[in-house]
This record gives sequence, structure tokens and C-alpha cells, in this order.
Amino acid sequence: MFVWSKLSSEKWSDAWEERFAGNEALSLVITTVPHKTTIRVEVYAKRQKDVLAVQKMFGGSVREIKNRNWAALSNEPMPPIQVRGKLVVCSARTATEVAKATKEFPGREIIAVPADMAFGTGHHATTATVLRMLVDVAAPLKDQKWKMADLGCGSGILAIAAQKLGASKVWGCDFDPKAVEVAKENAVRNDTPKIRFTKTDVLKWQPKEAYDVVAANIFFDILHAGFPQIVAAVKPGGVLMVSGILKTQADECLAVAKKLGIRWDRIVKKGKWVSACGIRS
Ligand SMILES: C[S@@+](CC[C@H](N)C(=O)[O-])C[C@H]1O[C@@H](n2cnc3c(N)ncnc32)[C@H](O)[C@@H]1O
Repeated sequence: MFVWSKLSSEKWSDAWEERFAGNEALSLVITTVPHKTTIRVEVYAKRQKDVLAVQKMFGGSVREIKNRNWAALSNEPMPPIQVRGKLVVCSARTATEVAKATKEFPGREIIAVPADMAFGTGHHATTATVLRMLVDVAAPLKDQKWKMADLGCGSGILAIAAQKLGASKVWGCDFDPKAVEVAKENAVRNDTPKIRFTKTDVLKWQPKEAYDVVAANIFFDILHAGFPQIVAAVKPGGVLMVSGILKTQADECLAVAKKLGIRWDRIVKKGKWVSACGIRS
């Protein structure tokens, strides 16, 4: 895996997304920092020549990722993100830092996810939107037992959030072994060690059980191809949240799930990203 990266002004965020939309060889990741006008633009590709072509056009730097790093985030601590007055996502790494954040934000559930070798610090628009949806979905489930699956768990942020919001059983998976390792570490860090994380490729997976809530922030092509098993993993009447879909791909993508029985109730557009939340009939 190779990555091209460059810092840019936030105002060009949409332009970057447009430039790379629909290019199947390249995966774009834009990391924003609240209250800052600089964004980090990264493009991942399997072949070096693809990222070198991007560098030729736009400058920036290229490097190989031996241990795959989805976010390739900097070591600078990211500012905490508050979600619906319920959750605070922060980059605390040590127990002392987690305790400090807990003291700083009384009454909130703290989710500590330091920038690491897996996607998901909460700063990306797709993660932030699914986190908000999750808080809303969890509210009426309070006092009930509910199970959640996090497909493409990355850092485990959504799975950890679900457990903190009251899920009784949570499973997360990723096809990247490094992400699974990081998610397990984050589960321990967040005092949610019962969450089960496995190395599973959603495209090769056959669900053995159904969940009340399924989250899949996993990009258009995986959703498009994986919807039969993703939808099958949602209990009838259960909730499916998806994200990682570019605006230009949303109609096509969401229509596939609709045919399989998902009634989309809420579609959120943020920049060029679309997230959606629906109920399985
Ligand atoms: C956009 S990140 C989302 C991470 C996290 N859930 C979040 O919301 O921030 C997508 C994740 O899906 C994983 N992924 C991509 N294709 C996959 C597949 N076929 N099966 C399982 N995981 C996959 C990637 O490794 C990556 O960690």
C-alpha cells in the first residue's frame, strides 16, 4: 500500500473529493481538525505508480506503508469532539490521560482513541456522522438489551461508542489485522474489554446471527457488493447505518439496500460524503 499526502486549506475539501470521486484505484481520506482551517489530504493506492501520478499533479509526498495505516495521522493530539452532549471522543492514550478527560467532561461518556494505525479518531465526517446517528438510535433502546455489529471497525470507535451507550453485546470486524489489533487495544483502554473484534472480510462473511443495530462505515464498493450479507445481519425492525459513500454514488448505493428491504429514514450529507440510517422491514 502507498499513500500520497499533502496539507491543504479546508476550503478546497470539496474540490479534493471531486477530483478523486469514482477512481477505483485510489481511496481518498480527508482529516479535518475542528476550529482549524488546514486539512490533511491523503490518497491510498495499492500501486506506487498511482500515487506518484497524483504527486506529479499536486506535489505533496509519497511513502510506502508497510503496516497498513488507513489514517496515517500525525502524532499531534487532536482536539476532543463532543457528540450530542453524550459522548466525548478524545485522543487520550494513557490511563492518566483518560482520567483527566473524564474529570474535564463530567457526565459524558469518554471514548479515548489516540491517532494510531487504524482509521477512526472521530474527526472524519463519516465517523462523526455515524456517531451522532448511533447516539440517536441508542436513546430509545435504553433499558433494553440490544446487540450491535460494527463492520469495518477500524479503531473500534463505533463499537466502543455502542457499548458505552448501553449495547449489551458488541462485535466489530475489519479485514485489516492491524485495525483489529488497534481496536482490541482501544477496547481495553476504554474499559469495554467485552467487545469482540475479529479479522473478517465483509465480502467473504456469512452472518451467523442478526443484530439490532449494524454500522458499516466502509466505502461504496464494499457496501455495494456486501449489502446482501450486511442487510441479512440486521434483525427485522433493526437499524442499519452506513457511511463512506460519496454523494455521486449515493443513489445507486442506497438503492441496492432498499431492494433488499432497508427503508432509509435519514440521509445526511456532509461535504461530499453521504451517510444513511434505515430500518430493515
Ligand atoms: C472508513 S474506515 C471506518 C473505520 C471506523 N468504523 C470509523 O467509522 O471511523 C473503513 C474500515 O473498513 C475496513 N474495511 C474495508 N474493506 C473491508 C472489508 N471488505 N471487510 C472488512 N473491513 C473492511 C478498513 O480496513 C477500514 O478500517
